[in-house]
Amino acid sequence: MSVKSVFMCNQCGEVSQKWAGKCVNCSAWGSIEESKSALARVDNVGMHGHVKFDRLSSVPIENTIRMMSVKEFDHVCGGGIVPGGVILVAGEPGAGKSTLLLQVCGSVEGLAVYISAEESMSQIRARAERLGLDLDKICCTSASHVEMIIDALSTHKPDLVIVDSIQTISSRQIEGGAGTINQIKMCTNILIDWAKKHNVAMIMVGHVTKEGMIAGPKIVEHMVDTVLYFQSDNTHDNLRILRAMKNRFGSMDAIGVFEVTQRGLISVNNISQAFVQSGVGDNIGSSIFVATDGNRGLIVEMQALISKSYLQFPRRSVVGWDLSRLSMICAIIEKNCKITLSNKDIYFNVIGGMKINDPAADLPAAAAIISSYLEIPLRAKTCALGEISLAGDIRPFNKLDIRLISAVNFGLHNVIIPDNQQIAEKNLCPNIQFINLTKINDLVSYIQKCKI
Ligand code: TYD
Ligand code: MG
Repeated sequence: MSVKSVFMCNQCGEVSQKWAGKCVNCSAWGSIEESKSALARVDNVGMHGHVKFDRLSSVPIENTIRMMSVKEFDHVCGGGIVPGGVILVAGEPGAGKSTLLLQVCGSVEGLAVYISAEESMSQIRARAERLGLDLDKICCTSASHVEMIIDALSTHKPDLVIVDSIQTISSRQIEGGAGTINQIKMCTNILIDWAKKHNVAMIMVGHVTKEGMIAGPKIVEHMVDTVLYFQSDNTHDNLRILRAMKNRFGSMDAIGVFEVTQRGLISVNNISQAFVQSGVGDNIGSSIFVATDGNRGLIVEMQALISKSYLQFPRRSVVGWDLSRLSMICAIIEKNCKITLSNKDIYFNVIGGMKINDPAADLPAAAAIISSYLEIPLRAKTCALGEISLAGDIRPFNKLDIRLISAVNFGLHNVIIPDNQQIAEKNLCPNIQFINLTKINDLVSYIQKCKI
């Protein structure tokens, strides 16, 4: 059998034939290591044991009924926790990861085990008591050796396993303390293997680095099914947002919003209310957009401030949206609407720490910019939805039905949409007035009419 040397990046798993100082895939320095791999060759057939292929019809069906826990956590996971699914929850220290996962532990049906090498058992008990959880329902340990943990899991047969955190678990099979890249990779591998084999849901906590990335090898993100980030909201100290960065079992645009209280995290019921400051968006430079958040709509307020620039290169500052998208919309407005923005400073803000990455946000963004430029507020209870092409055409977008339901529930009355958007649900919302626009120029004319 031929044994060949290959080189592997210990950060992202990229394999190459030659050593290099920098990984071509993830750009990490000094991460390429040599590994001896036995590459099977065709002439060695029969020397490696036998692999059996099963017909799909003979593969046993595993339990796929999702487990329900904390409302907003379930929503971000795609409607509950999938048995056998492995979730990585990342966030800065103090974000509330341990609190959230202990609450998840306390609210699932079945046996949940909480493995925490970060805190002592009595600290976990005190926290569970403060959160008002049923102490008999949660089993915990502060063991940190993965082999011992696996033995204990195989005896207890839990339905949900929480590992807080993956950086504190180590394996005896390899050298190095907990938290090193090789240890994290090894322990994650062993734990995922066990979870998949026994069809048990597992949630791991991952610390983040100063740059906000999950500490340890990037490859961990590829190994798990779901990666969730738990972050605090820029504008509301008492709110926490859970976002999916990768989701094999649910939507990527879903977010969960929680309020931090003495008795733990509480799922926020009316999340739109949390993100809209002026309530109805009738301030100068403000417009309302309905984003999609999984299978529900989310009302978001966008604000623009246009002011005369005294700089050689006018300032463009964006929070919560894409800078190049803002520049593009400004160029389209300037080209088509006799509005000069190139000598103006432009500040653009999406209220409430939301990050918008949706083409349908072009029209409300343009509305906020034009409203600020003309110093005319949009009519109260108005939202705008639509993509804008480089030629200045306003184009249709997706998920209109979800967005309309949220707009109606939020009490909006006017919806600015592309003229050629198909509205199948028009009769479902008789109180909504649709303002149909074809070109970006029509938006300027509409906002000018708002003055009267
Ligand atoms: P913790 O869950 O320990 O954060 P992490 O595991 O991400 O580091 O929470 C940090 C502190 O905040 C802890 O002292 C408990 C407190 N806290 C509350 O009192 N209420 C809450 O709702 C949350 C989320 C945290
Ligand atoms: Mg913690």
